[in-house]
Amino acid sequence: MILKTLDDLLGEGVSGRRVFVRADLNVPFDKANPGVISDDGRARAVLPTLIALRDAGAKVIVASHLGRPKGAPDPKFTLAPVATRLGELLGSDVIFAEDTVGADAQAKVEALADGQVLLLENLRFNEGETSKDDAVRGAFADELATFADYYVDDAFGAVHRKHASVYDVAARLPHYAGGLVVKEVEVLRKVSETPEKPYVVVLGGSKVSDKLAVIQALLPKVDKLLVGGGMCFTFLKAQGFEVGKSLLEDEMVSVCADLLEQAQGRIVLPVDVVAATEFSADAQHDVVEASAIPADRLGLDIGPKSTELFASAIAGAKTVFWNGPMGVFELAPFAAGTRGVAEAITKIDGFSVVGGGDSAAAVRTLGLDETAFGHISTGGGASLEYLEGKTLPGVSALEK
Ligand code: 3PG
Ligand code: MG
Repeated sequence: MILKTLDDLLGEGVSGRRVFVRADLNVPFDKANPGVISDDGRARAVLPTLIALRDAGAKVIVASHLGRPKGAPDPKFTLAPVATRLGELLGSDVIFAEDTVGADAQAKVEALADGQVLLLENLRFNEGETSKDDAVRGAFADELATFADYYVDDAFGAVHRKHASVYDVAARLPHYAGGLVVKEVEVLRKVSETPEKPYVVVLGGSKVSDKLAVIQALLPKVDKLLVGGGMCFTFLKAQGFEVGKSLLEDEMVSVCADLLEQAQGRIVLPVDVVAATEFSADAQHDVVEASAIPADRLGLDIGPKSTELFASAIAGAKTVFWNGPMGVFELAPFAAGTRGVAEAITKIDGFSVVGGGDSAAAVRTLGLDETAFGHISTGGGASLEYLEGKTLPGVSALEK
């Protein structure tokens, strides 16, 4: 990777200079307590970059998206609580701009003192951020670029998005990769180009269609591909089983059948599941054979025999990549599969990578030891697209 890094920038000296940092502060919130961040892992992951710039005397302007607002301000998606949390983590105040490029942002950027950190309001409150029209995105990028002398991208979770703050601002300012982006790309390159064998991939999450490209890319490289989560039911159906009211992508059944045939036994499916009467923590639920899911039940987790089966496949691996929970881990009765698989991954004598959003959040919400994993990625979609072999706009923008 030929790109300049944060260390290069720090070497050039940033005292008194304005540095725009694109971060991925798209953190999950507690569904029961609005405004309360349920997992601040993404904020913590960008701290080293912010601290280094702050301590070097830069005027630090941080920008991020949060959720998917529709190109206009929407209080549900304000970054205000994230500014507060970031300030606590940094141990110094984070000034918050109530808009992204408007009067408040302009005034606060103007007033920044050396070593101060400012967070702009949600980038996606502006239609230019995600626009498919290069000119519209470019006009927004022009406004963002006027704020700073330098651009640092440390938003690994968003590098697969061709968005103004990810792609276009880089073209307008001297640009550098933050430490998080450098580390993530390095780990993913290792896992995709030279994985030590046996190589086991564990995939979960709800949709096969979201994972199809990565399955196709990985299948030739892996020794075992373990499939859990909502997506396993489409595979079980392809194996000839009825799946009751479980998540099912009908149009993907024949694709799954082809993959099973092509994999010749290397795709491992659950042999039992936790089947519930409804999607609720209070629902009646029982462990049933994967071949005997009752018509009025939906599978919300893999069962104990499957967890054991997956754990034994993981045990001998030298490399494990895991993306996607095995069940609805947010609800206590359906967390055991994800926990069991995660624990098995922590025990391998090899290198493990937790790819992304939900699985990374699962590691932390289940209280597992983060340091027991080789690497916990901050990017779900981004790490999958990397493994698919796609070009990541955010990374290519830095290479130019
Ligand atoms: C993520 O959560 O995957 C990243 O922050 C990117 O968000 P997006 O999928 O809404 O672009
Ligand atoms: Mg996402």
